[in-house]
Amino acid sequence: MLIDIIAGARPNFMKIAPIIKAIEKANKESGEAKGSEHFLEYRLIHTGQHYDRNMSGAFFEQLGIPEPHMNLESGSGTQAEQTGRIMTRYEEVLMDRKSDLCMVVGDVTSTMACSITAKKMGVKIAHVEGGIRSRDWTMPEEINRVATDSITDFFFTTSEVANKNLRNEGVSDEQIFFVGNTMIDTLLGNLERLEKPGVVDEQNLSEGSYFVMTLHRPANVDEERKLKDLVENIVEGAEDEKIIFPVHPRTRKILDGLGISHPNLIYTDPLGYLQFIWLVKYSRAVITDSGGITEETTVMGIPCLTLRDNTERPETITQGTNELIGTNPDSVKPALQKLMSGSWKSGSIPEKWDGKAAERIVGHIQALMQNGSLKPHQ
Ligand code: UD1
Repeated sequence: MLIDIIAGARPNFMKIAPIIKAIEKANKESGEAKGSEHFLEYRLIHTGQHYDRNMSGAFFEQLGIPEPHMNLESGSGTQAEQTGRIMTRYEEVLMDRKSDLCMVVGDVTSTMACSITAKKMGVKIAHVEGGIRSRDWTMPEEINRVATDSITDFFFTTSEVANKNLRNEGVSDEQIFFVGNTMIDTLLGNLERLEKPGVVDEQNLSEGSYFVMTLHRPANVDEERKLKDLVENIVEGAEDEKIIFPVHPRTRKILDGLGISHPNLIYTDPLGYLQFIWLVKYSRAVITDSGGITEETTVMGIPCLTLRDNTERPETITQGTNELIGTNPDSVKPALQKLMSGSWKSGSIPEKWDGKAAERIVGHIQALMQNGSLKPHQ
């Protein structure tokens, strides 16, 4: 059984790491030899969507992800340029040797491009984190999710909300596997290995006193005026506290021209996984427009202010520590005041976010092979 595991952009790497470990563990335990029908052979395919060391290579090293078997080197470009390059190059890989299952994670361009390519070549699709929906069609990620899910064979889901979304879209129960969250597998598996980033001592940060901020969504960063207003409101709303802002390359391109500077606003390059999670774990709160970070803060019990109007991860709000603040710069200060006054909610951890999602995924794949739902091509 040959499984292609696709990873292209930063948020994919923490989702695939535990899956690869679980596959290797399952092979060891089953004692199946490479080449046997039940051996889980995998090809790790990096699409090259993210290519800077601090967006990609550092994550492979820190999370012990093996060298990819191939890198499609798709690089930067418009959505269509990236999609086209990934599809053309992955098609060549499949023409050379067809896999039996294409496993994609999350909602990035690589997820959608590889699933469409594989499906057209007759390869079954497994979507890890399938079924989540923001209903916001201005987000490329929502288009990627819905396009991918429309051709997915096996859905590995993170929440009951995702299961419900899929059922409402006509997906049958036999295709839905509620496994939990592989991003949280990685979080829980690394909590003892976190590394204090240099900025903590450089800036004399003390536990629970500083904010961490990340911004990269086009809706927040592509318009200069809006980005400036947002950042300035955040700095004012944070009063005397420092804000550590690891800057995404997309945001960097715009920020560089804006010259926003304040003694409490500390810019850094994107951090490695172990450093970033350290920073979040000991922060007072996180201000972000990311999706994945709202899951991590929920599990760590850190307040999270999300600068978006919607989320595909509603459990981070109904159960977790996350709140949607919106994207209007004027809404930032009231939210920060609420936090400062100590009236932020405390949360609970969603069902099955327990560090065992990847093991469950591999268990389901083995069962699907046994019951004949997943067959090798030869
Ligand atoms: C992508 C994902 C988004 C995810 C985010 C996390 C899509 C549609 N979006 O957005 O869901 O939350 O990654 O980071 O797939 N760049 C570099 N170096 C790199 C990577 C990118 O300089 O290693 C630059 C590119 O040149 C580009 C910009 O950053 O101008 C954006 O990169 P891109 O991959 O297009 O999308 P993201 O905004 O990172």
